[in-house]
Amino acid sequence: MIILKSTIELNNWFIENLNGFVENVGFVPTMGALHMGHASLIEKASKECQIVVVSILVNPTQFNEKADLLSYPRTLENDIIVAEKAGGTILFTPSPKDIYGGTPYAEPVDYGPITSTFEGFSRQGHFDGVVAVVDKLFLAVKPNRAYFGSKDLQQIAVVERMSNERHPNIKIVSCELIRDENGLALSSRNIRLSYAGIILAQNISQELKTVAERVKDGVDMIDSVEIAKKKLKNLEGLELEYISGVNCKTFSISPENRGWSHIIVAARVEGVRLIDNIEL
Ligand code: PAF
Repeated sequence: MIILKSTIELNNWFIENLNGFVENVGFVPTMGALHMGHASLIEKASKECQIVVVSILVNPTQFNEKADLLSYPRTLENDIIVAEKAGGTILFTPSPKDIYGGTPYAEPVDYGPITSTFEGFSRQGHFDGVVAVVDKLFLAVKPNRAYFGSKDLQQIAVVERMSNERHPNIKIVSCELIRDENGLALSSRNIRLSYAGIILAQNISQELKTVAERVKDGVDMIDSVEIAKKKLKNLEGLELEYISGVNCKTFSISPENRGWSHIIVAARVEGVRLIDNIEL
C-alpha cells in the first residue's frame, strides 16, 4: 500500500504513475481507527474502481466538543493493515493544515433541515466541518466515486447535497451499515466502551429492530417509536438524545409519520456518543 502524507505527494503520485490520466478513482474518506465497517467500504470501492484512495484525517472542524476530538482513537499502524487487506491502493494522511491550506476553518452551511435537525441540532457546527473537509478532500483526491457508510445517515444527505452543488461529477455511494454479531453498529468510538458498556449499547440496535418489526406488524409508527423511547430512557447508564422516524432525504421534523424511511437514534453510554438507524 502506498502511503502519501500530503496533497503535494498525492498530486505527484498521480502525475508520475498515471501521467495525469485518471481511471476510475474510488475514495473512502475516514478519520481512522478503521474497523470492519470501513473495510467493507474499501472492499466495495476496490471492486468498482481501479484505484482506491483511503484518507485518514481527524478533522478538527467537525468536533463540537474538544474532549471528543482529543479522545478520538488514533490507530495508524492497524489502519494501514486494515486498508491494505481490504484492497486500498493509497493511504492518504494529510495534516489538517495541509488540507485546509492553513488554519482549519469551516464556513457555516445551511441546507435547511438536513443540516439543522437531529445531528445538526445536537452537534452545532458539526456539518459545517464535514462539508468543509469533504469538499477539500474531493478537490485533493478528485475521485469518480466516493463511499460513505449509512450509519451516518444524515451525513450522507448532507454530502450528497454538497456534492451535487460543488462536485456534480462525483458519484456518492451509500454503503450498508455494518454491525457486530450482537447487532451493535460498528463505530470507531466503540473502542472506548467497556464490556458492560457494549452490552448496554446493544439495546440501541435491539430497540431499532423491534420498532421496525412492530411497524411491519401494523403498529402505528409514532406509537412504536414512543414505546422504544420509553424503554431506552429507562435504561440506567444510557442517556438517550433522540429517537425518531425520518425521511432520509429531507430530515424534516414533521408531526406526520408519512414519508418516514428510517428510524434514527443517538445516545450516550459511558460518555461515548453513539448513533444508529434502521430502514423501515
Ligand atoms: O464519517 C467520517 O468518518 C467523517 O465525518 C468524514 C466523512 C471522514 C469527514 O471527516
